[in-house]
Amino acid sequence: MAKILVTGGAGFIGSNFIHYFHQNHPEDIIYNLDALTYAGNLENLKDLENSDRYKFFHGDITDVALVNDLFERGEFETVVHFAAESHVDRSILDPSTFIKTNVLGTQVLLNAALKTGVKRFHHISTDEVFGAIEQGEDRKFNENTNYAPNSPYAASKAGSDHLVRAYGKTYNLEYTISNCSNNFGPYMFPEKLIPLAITNLLEGKKVPIYGKGDQSRDWLYVEDHARAIEAILEKGKSGETYCVGGMTEEITNLEVVKLICGLLGKNPEQNIEFVTDRLGHDFKYVVDWSKIKNELGFEPKYSFNEWLEKTVEWYKNNQSWWQNVKNGSYQEYYKQQYGPKK
Ligand code: NAD
Ligand code: TYD
Repeated sequence: MAKILVTGGAGFIGSNFIHYFHQNHPEDIIYNLDALTYAGNLENLKDLENSDRYKFFHGDITDVALVNDLFERGEFETVVHFAAESHVDRSILDPSTFIKTNVLGTQVLLNAALKTGVKRFHHISTDEVFGAIEQGEDRKFNENTNYAPNSPYAASKAGSDHLVRAYGKTYNLEYTISNCSNNFGPYMFPEKLIPLAITNLLEGKKVPIYGKGDQSRDWLYVEDHARAIEAILEKGKSGETYCVGGMTEEITNLEVVKLICGLLGKNPEQNIEFVTDRLGHDFKYVVDWSKIKNELGFEPKYSFNEWLEKTVEWYKNNQSWWQNVKNGSYQEYYKQQYGPKK
């Protein structure tokens, strides 16, 4: 029986990963360390509350004493590190918590992992560390692409990637890193484009599109991401990085939102609102996932259109989940980001 520590497991991708792993690895025990920031929600894991193979610990990864104590008692074989501040727009409003959690928090975990002999530290990162593919440029990000982060979020993730690699080189910590593209699916916090669009439309509000909406992302269904992490834990080589991407090259934000309007029977002309562009807005991300395919036999299997439809259905069927999330402090953020009238 292996013990696996997941950090940030009450967030969007972490909770989907825990569901997937709990179901597919009945031999393992999952520990979840999460500070329950605005993005963490134990509702995401309600069905596992009574499982004897899942345990939740409330705590901050920047808390040295708490983390050291948990690692010493837990004797974890594997760590899968999701915990982070994850939203670009919030990092533009205030970068400081991004540096604290994403950089310093990662270093606290790395120290504890090293001290307690963790056999694999898997670090979840993003393709945003590579910067942007510019308009008219024909290339994809891969494991050899230079780091060129543009937002404070991306810079903080780049810092954490470098620390993980340095702990591997300097202290021989066994690690792997994955840099993945934009995820979508259930339990995604409605500050990010896809759930914001779905929930705004369900509430009868317009969808704010930055600039002209001609930017594009390489959308990855969240369960494909969980499968990719599983493949890396099982077959990945220590000291290696793997890029993980989706199946949607070149679909613009405007096209994505129009698809969602179509799925909800809304007229895009009346339900989309073009707003001031994001500062430093990255134009395009496209990931070349041939390394993980060739070396570990992983490729995404969930097509964007089909799983976008299922995701829209999930938000339609789980209105109380996102209505609770959109109450309270979310309102303050929304006003600050989009202005009081929207
Ligand atoms: P999220 O914002 O939905 O969840 C983050 C989780 O981390 C929350 O449960 C939060 O409570 C927890 N957390 C935050 N600060 C913490 C701290 N100091 N101590 C302990 N827990 C803390 O994020 P997500 O979208 O699920 O992203 C998870 C990871 O995947 C992040 O590392 C992110 O950079 C990376 N990633 C996300 C995407 C995406 O599309 N969402 C794409 C690529 C990479
Ligand atoms: P987002 O979901 O925030 O992910 P990321 O910035 O990490 O890629 O944004 C996805 C794209 O959608 C990005 O190009 C910014 C754009 N966007 C909007 O046009 N309007 C919005 O209200 C939001 C949140 C994002």
